[in-house]
Amino acid sequence: MNIVEWSDALLLDFEPMDAVHREFVDLLARAQSASDAELPEAWAAVVEHTATHFGREDQWMRKTRFSSAENHILQHRVVLNVLHEGLAMARAGQLDAVREMAGELATWFAKHTQSLDAALALHMRREPASAGGALARPSRPATRHAPLPHASA
Ligand SMILES: [Fe+2]
Ligand SMILES: [Fe+2]
Repeated sequence: MNIVEWSDALLLDFEPMDAVHREFVDLLARAQSASDAELPEAWAAVVEHTATHFGREDQWMRKTRFSSAENHILQHRVVLNVLHEGLAMARAGQLDAVREMAGELATWFAKHTQSLDAALALHMRREPASAGGALARPSRPATRHAPLPHASA
């Protein structure tokens, strides 16, 4: 099984994403080292975190009209669905299947972070509204205004 581990190769130089990714690695590592008795709860924590993590990235992509948003948002949805299936399996006592899924998630996470998330981080670093952290805090509304109408001659 591939055990997740933080590495600087995962750093994207966009602190709001890096912080969330560190939290993901911590929670997945905890699930991967959990005893059978602890695994269902540890997996539930991974799923809860991931829903927030993906939701925040989806929100950034939509708010900033990120060009590759569709594919990235779809990947999030597919993976989150699989993790929910894992939660049902964990609660049904199918722990080997959940442990296998955890290893696959670790592999997927490294690839996803270094490809789609890296592209999003680059985009966010260039996004003027994110520089002051407005987009980094999902509870606050974005500071961009709607485009002004064209003046009629
Ligand atoms: Fe991410
Ligand atoms: Fe992502």
